[in-house]
Amino acid sequence: MPKPIYVLNGPNLNLLGVREPHIYGTTTLAQVQELAQTRAESFGFDVVFRQSNHEGDLIDWIQEARTEASAMVINPAGYGHTSVALLDSLKTLTIPVVECHLSNPAAREDFRRHTFVSLAARGQVTGFGPASYELAVEAAARLASDKA
Ligand code: DQA
Repeated sequence: MPKPIYVLNGPNLNLLGVREPHIYGTTTLAQVQELAQTRAESFGFDVVFRQSNHEGDLIDWIQEARTEASAMVINPAGYGHTSVALLDSLKTLTIPVVECHLSNPAAREDFRRHTFVSLAARGQVTGFGPASYELAVEAAARLASDKA
């Protein structure tokens, strides 16, 4: 088995399913995890799936991924729009990084149009709800297998 794909989730995503359902839907984060795991397995990868409301936790996990992961999918949530520290830690990675959002930030408020994370990502998957994670995991798996 290759090293797993890390799927990291930023602040407030623990409330998926009840948080602004008109934007983020009613699927829970646990259900999203299942979808991500199933898609990863179909490409021969396991998933390490984590969520934190704390910037430092996310940075610690990104640093851990330097040696422990084949690829990374990250939904940085609000930190994507604000955190240079998250960008700096992502820039230490040599594995492929795919940025993922449930909603389409480009079609929302102006302040969501820019993400620092995109500067360190191979690409973004946005706007497809939970399917964004399936597509992002597939992209990460293909990149990690050099099949992209
Ligand atoms: C989000 C989009 C962000 O703009 C927002 O801050 C989130 C969720 C998404 O998945 O659509 O918390 O990352």
